[in-house]
Order: sequence, then C-alpha cells, then structure tokens
Amino acid sequence: MRVVDAFRSAFGAEPETVWHAPGRVNLIGEHTDYNDGFVLPFAVPWGVTAAVTPRADRTIRLLSLQSAGGGEPVTIADHADSQGWTRYVVGVLAMLGDRVRGADIAVDGDIPQGAGLSSSAALEVSVASALNDLHGLGMTPMEVALLSQKAENDFVGMPCGIMDQAASALSKEGHALFLDCRSLGHRNVPLDLAARGLQILIIDTQVHHEHATGEYAKRRAECESAARKLGVASLRDVEDLAGALDRLQGDERKRTMHVVTESHRVEALVGLLRAGQITEIGALLNASHLSLRDQYEVSSPELDASVEAAIRGGARGARMTGGGFGGSAIALVADDRLQSVQDEVAKTFAAMGWTAPRFLPATPAQGARKLA
Ligand code: GLA
Repeated sequence: MRVVDAFRSAFGAEPETVWHAPGRVNLIGEHTDYNDGFVLPFAVPWGVTAAVTPRADRTIRLLSLQSAGGGEPVTIADHADSQGWTRYVVGVLAMLGDRVRGADIAVDGDIPQGAGLSSSAALEVSVASALNDLHGLGMTPMEVALLSQKAENDFVGMPCGIMDQAASALSKEGHALFLDCRSLGHRNVPLDLAARGLQILIIDTQVHHEHATGEYAKRRAECESAARKLGVASLRDVEDLAGALDRLQGDERKRTMHVVTESHRVEALVGLLRAGQITEIGALLNASHLSLRDQYEVSSPELDASVEAAIRGGARGARMTGGGFGGSAIALVADDRLQSVQDEVAKTFAAMGWTAPRFLPATPAQGARKLA
C-alpha cells in the first residue's frame, strides 16, 4: 500500500494500523439532518486511507500524499497551530481529549476534490476509527461519527449535521443508509441498482461556491428561527405543514416547506425501495431538486443545468446532492441511456462555455473498515 510506504519512509517504522473510510453521495434527504429529519446517503468507492501509530507525547506528525509537500510531514506540537486540511485530523485528536496523546499519521485519499463527496468526513472518520482501534476505546461506528462531527463543528467551525460522518462510518456495500437524525436509529437498505440495469451517475460540475459555508450556516439559523416561532424543538416536529406555513413568512416559510416535504420524500423513497420499486424513485429525486432550487435556494446554474440535461438525455430522475452551491448532481440512469445522458450534459456545459463536467459511477460501497 502506497500510504504504508509513505509512512515508513517518513517515520522510519511500520504503522500499527491502517483504516479506510469512504466519502458519500446522498440519494435523498438534503438539509434535513440538522433539522432532526431523515437522510438516505450511501458510501462511494473512494475515500481516505489512514496509517497510524500512537505516540507517547502530545505531538502529532502528519503527512498527506495529496498535500503540496507530497509526503513531507508537518509536526503539530500544539493543537492550536493547525491549518487547512490538518484541522480535520487535529480536531479529531482534540475531541478525544485525554484518551489519546499524540500520533504519527499518514493519509492517502482518492476522492475527487471539490466534488462535494465529503472528503473531510472521510478524513475524520478514517483517523478516528484508527485511534479508536489502537487505544481500545470501544466506540461504536455511530460514536466515531458523532466524535468526527463534533471535531468539524467545534474545531473546524463548520456547523454540519451528522449525515456525512454517519454515511462514512456506517454504510454497507450494496446498501443505502436510512438514518433518523434525531434518534440516530438507522438501517442499511438494499440498493441493488445493477440487478435492475440501473446506475447512479455522479455529475461533478467542477464548480464550488466560495460562500458555501456562510450560506449553510445561514440556512441552519433560518430553520432554527422558524422552529422557535412554531414552538417546536426542530422542523422535524412540524405535523400540520399548511398551518405552520400560515404562521411564517419569506425565507423561513420557504425553508420550512423544503425541510418538511424533503423528510417525507426520504420515507417515501425508502418505501419504494422496500417494495422493490427502485425504477420508480426518479420522480422523488426530481421533486427534491425543485424544492432545493426554489424553496431552499441552495442550487446553482451548473447544478440546475446538469439535472435538466440529464433528464433530457433520458435519466429517470436527477437532483443536486450534498450541501449545494456547486459540487455534484446525481442522476438515476438505465445502463442503455448512460451515453446519451453524458452526451447531453457535456453538450450543455460546452454550449454555456463552462468547464467540462466530470462523470463518475456511484456504486454503494462499504463504510469504514480496517485494512491492516
Ligand atoms: C453538508 C453537511 C451535511 C448535510 C448536507 C446537506 O454535506 O455536511 O451535514 O447537512 O450538507 O444535506
């Protein structure tokens, strides 16, 4: 393994353990996690592999095969002096507190950068899983996910929900992860696309909005404010949507409309999967996209064009996936339409003068696992 070779040459010893954690796409249930609603992500075949050995002192030595130094370790003596991508790792160690001292860590990732496939969650979960294992901490995969989320919320400063880390820690090959973000109850739901001659195509727009984190925090605050006005703990608790909408105005009204209907769409989609009606889920994907575009207002021209072109090219349904403002869309495509969908999307981007999109096949992959 390349990461083991890099570890050995940087630190002069074999790593004590090696863990892999994947990125994710979300099939449906967008911006519902921090509203205590439902989500249905699955792990993708790309992720982060972490080779780790604990240290007796508080030092962290860290190298990434993807960083500019290309294998030069950075030494972090004090948690506060971390920067850039190293914050995700140092945040995990910081959250572990007294349970862990320092560590030598080498990471290698193959998640397409900037595609919105949660490379940060994969990095956190790979390192947290390795340290959990090495120190015999006995954390469950859900506890690893929660700790990783806390590192991102409290250390990195991104107020994300639990979806990405849970998908990375708990997914099962060939399944989607149906997660109740309030109770944290979850089930791996079979998603056998190939048996139906289908696949999920990721359309990476190659565009990322630089204000995405600020807009994300703003949406989250609008939802919390709407819930307070409605006198409920979170938008998950809205039962009479029409009545709730009467009591809200402007953006808060729109956000509530999206969150409540989106969470119902997750349940409807899971119902279709359980009934073996996988080919019928396209309409729910389309409805999710329109709601994210018009009510939640987190789409982008490139995402909208991807979805529309995919459908023109013969996709059974499509939507933006992840936080929005760029990143990727997903399309449910029959095998015999794959080429026409890609051609139509590529043609549309070319006509607009945009950077060509990237196409990636999303096969539901296994969550975090020990490699050595
Ligand atoms: C980002 C966050 C997730 C979730 C999605 C939107 O990926 O990290 O917690 O809120 O956006 O569904």
